[in-house]
Amino acid sequence: ETSLAHVDETVPEPNRLQNRLVDNPHEHTQFANTPDTDPALPGNREWARQIIAAIPQSTLGVDTVRKHTITDAKTLEATLATAVDAAPAWAALGGEKRASVLRAAAVELEKRRAQLIEVAASECGKTIEQADPEISEAIDFANYYAQLAQDLDTLDGARAIPVKLTVVTPPWNFPIAIPAGSTLAALAAGSSVVIKPATQASRCGSVMVEALWAALDSVGVSRDVLQLAHVSEGELGQVLVSDPRVDRLILTGAFETAELFQSFRPDLQLLAETSGKNSIIVTPHADLDLAVKDVVNSAFGHAGQKCSAASLVILVGSVGRSQRFRNQLLDAVSGLKVAFPDDPTAQVGPVIEAPEGKLKHVLTQLEPGESWAIEPRLLSEDGRLWSPGVKTGVTPGSEYHLTEYFGPVLGIMVVDSLEQAIAAQNATDYGLTAGLHSLDPAEIAQWTSSVEAGNLYVNRGITGAIVRRQPFGGWKRSAVGAGTKAGGPNYLFGLTDWESVPAAG
Ligand code: SER
Repeated sequence: ETSLAHVDETVPEPNRLQNRLVDNPHEHTQFANTPDTDPALPGNREWARQIIAAIPQSTLGVDTVRKHTITDAKTLEATLATAVDAAPAWAALGGEKRASVLRAAAVELEKRRAQLIEVAASECGKTIEQADPEISEAIDFANYYAQLAQDLDTLDGARAIPVKLTVVTPPWNFPIAIPAGSTLAALAAGSSVVIKPATQASRCGSVMVEALWAALDSVGVSRDVLQLAHVSEGELGQVLVSDPRVDRLILTGAFETAELFQSFRPDLQLLAETSGKNSIIVTPHADLDLAVKDVVNSAFGHAGQKCSAASLVILVGSVGRSQRFRNQLLDAVSGLKVAFPDDPTAQVGPVIEAPEGKLKHVLTQLEPGESWAIEPRLLSEDGRLWSPGVKTGVTPGSEYHLTEYFGPVLGIMVVDSLEQAIAAQNATDYGLTAGLHSLDPAEIAQWTSSVEAGNLYVNRGITGAIVRRQPFGGWKRSAVGAGTKAGGPNYLFGLTDWESVPAAG
């Protein structure tokens, strides 16, 4: 039995600022992104203090407490069969009714905001300021996909035929938003779901699924349509992925995992958002103060453990030759508060596990020509808390330039021209996020037309895609299979089968 996090129900609701409604003439209802908790309001600070007080000290930084139920083969079979059996009734409800379940899910997720933050902090090391927007994003997925579920029933010239079974295999780094978003999308599209949370984030998966079950209950729909399978990555994981009843599989994880899944079952219909090696270019036409802030946040938010994170900053011309940008950057990085999330001032939290392999290498080794501007230091006995590192002298084509590491290290590369910078940005196998800091419209136009990435960010950070406003997904080895952008208008299209029908009129 998975133990669920408990937060006292007397924790007061935070005061939330109303978000501006976004008008879209193409949508039949209005959609508003859910606001994050505003830390400037005293009531919210007290609320955050209570969340922090609820983080069990025993779980912080201790790998061994990550207990999860490993489903045996018989239970897994029952789980799959129940989900498949529940599918026709769920599909028959139609988009309107499914949308009401999703809207109820938004309410249930909001009700559990404190509990979800607490479990993301204690289980995955997310700081409060990094976890709170994840809950907002999960709620946005629920409200937005509710709208798309309704649209699916009314498309001209095409009829969506729901599939029976979608398996969701989310990551641990966004342990609420991504499992919720993937599950809600498949449910919206009329499919049953079996979700297998990442083993490092099993409690997060359980609390999120509890919220969705409560939503199903509130609308009077059977929970069977959503099954939770705490399966390890070994043999049973392979059984789950390879099962011929699986119509779609939504994966967020490493490119190699997508390849492995395809090797298990070559005809698997996969929607996978995979790895990234992302960089930000800073040109002499940039607002350098803004660039420093955005590079630091993009590189070190959640200790760099985001597929969207900035791992490299590419300095063009005089920005690279002068000390100004570099000094400001190093000052900003040195000033980051590195702590476990039970410290309310923590800005950079721990990495998910004591580093091994590639991550250990990048935290402790330099390639030829590189040197530490700030050397990462290990700050905790469990091996997980590292102060952020900055390395200079990264050269085009080097190992650091081309490899994804998923940790708190930022490299600096210096080039002569914007053309060289774009070439370096495009040289990796991946194409997930990319950034440019420049106030020159000609540079922005040149960059936008030649950069090979799914999510382009100009004069802002490169993490934190926003449902509907900036849907998320990449090119090249950052995406595998049929997926379009999560949180975007077409995302459900890959999750159903299609019949064409005569267009009305
Ligand atoms: N959607 C996240 C971001 O944009 C990454 O998964 O940072």
